[in-house]
Amino acid sequence: MASPPHTSKTLKLERYNSYLRRLHSTKVLNASSKLIFRVTLLIALVLILFFTLNYPPLSDKNPNHAHLHHHNFLSAALFTSSAGGDAWEKQVRHSSTPKKPNGLSVLVTGAAGFVGSHCSIALKKRGDGVLGLDNFNSYYDPSLKRARQKLLLKNQVFIVEGDLNDASLLTKLFDVVPFTHILHLAAQAGVRYAMQNPQSYVSSNIAGFVNLLEVAKTANPQPAIVWASSSSVYGLNTQVPFSELDRTDQPASLYAATKKAGEEIAHTYNHIYGLSLTGLRFFTVYGPWGDLIWLISFSRKISCKGLWTRRRKAQEAVAKKNGPAQLRVYNLGNTSPVPVGKLVSILEGLLRTKARKHVIKMPRNGDVPYTHANVTLAYRDFGYQPTTDLATGLRKFVKWYVDYYGIQTRVKKDSDINSEHPEESV
Ligand SMILES: *[C@@H]1O[C@H](CO)[C@@H](O)[C@H](O)[C@H]1NC(C)=O
Repeated sequence: MASPPHTSKTLKLERYNSYLRRLHSTKVLNASSKLIFRVTLLIALVLILFFTLNYPPLSDKNPNHAHLHHHNFLSAALFTSSAGGDAWEKQVRHSSTPKKPNGLSVLVTGAAGFVGSHCSIALKKRGDGVLGLDNFNSYYDPSLKRARQKLLLKNQVFIVEGDLNDASLLTKLFDVVPFTHILHLAAQAGVRYAMQNPQSYVSSNIAGFVNLLEVAKTANPQPAIVWASSSSVYGLNTQVPFSELDRTDQPASLYAATKKAGEEIAHTYNHIYGLSLTGLRFFTVYGPWGDLIWLISFSRKISCKGLWTRRRKAQEAVAKKNGPAQLRVYNLGNTSPVPVGKLVSILEGLLRTKARKHVIKMPRNGDVPYTHANVTLAYRDFGYQPTTDLATGLRKFVKWYVDYYGIQTRVKKDSDINSEHPEESV
């Protein structure tokens, strides 16, 4: 009989076919469950986006600043889709790899800021590797930060757009790059704005700082940290010039209080985890590419309050790591106070205009009457000696300002600015 083998062949074939059918239906089932999963995920994401945009954090009482949070959220969302790829990692590595032997690899937070951009370029020019981090928030003109970002890119410094409070972003950066140093300048600045948006100071200057320290403490190698404290920690201290030994327990603004908190938090991380932390108490800074918060009112009127200090070049701010696990603070500023009247008359000379002065009694909103630095300590340890006097510094600043903003009317030409010596005429 020829049939049995034939039958068994048909049987086998049928079994095989049904196997294929089962396989196929499983595949269909798998595919459809994948589809369902993806659709659910998409709906969830859309819902999260919807609720985040419509209900900003409860802590943010001021609706005017809600857009800061939207911006952070959106940039974080953009980050997850664009960052983390090979091209992104290559850019991050390229930017942070030192060009000279034994060069540093520095993460600069707040790299699109005034001090951050100058320091990043100075470090890069010195042969160190630099990676920037900035959230480009709109506390002041974000277009100025974007312009600095372009300048940094020209100097081969890449800025990652993200927030200090994004722990997974920071962890990722430290996974990709073995940073030897962090220059932590990102912060919510300004003493008066603290009354409008107090939570932003807690979020950046305290929570953000702790987040950074948490990542740094476990990083291998453990990076040395240089960070921006503030001369405002001297608060109501009346003993001038301000010395690092003076009391700093009477802050006059929430900004000052968060910076003082930063100094105490630094103590904790040094004490427990052996992190090396150097705080720089910056006195007022100004110069080319500077933000103009302090000068904005000039074209309208100037409010004169107490004394104004001389300033210093921002590039000199980077302290060196010096032995293991240090905890230090340094004043960085100029040593002779200049009355606001003199500042105004120098600017009048440079801009060939008369200021309409409106002298007011100093309000109790966070400003302090004196800021006058004793920089003996920074001189002893780093040879820190500011060389730019106020007249020279303002001339450089005005030259940049006029170029950058394209102001022509009633302003001296660059050549005039370069050839004159206003410090001699006032
Ligand atoms: C400046 O500060 C140092 C300590 O850093 C102190 O020894 C010195 O006396 C201070 N100078 C003045 C003029 O207060």
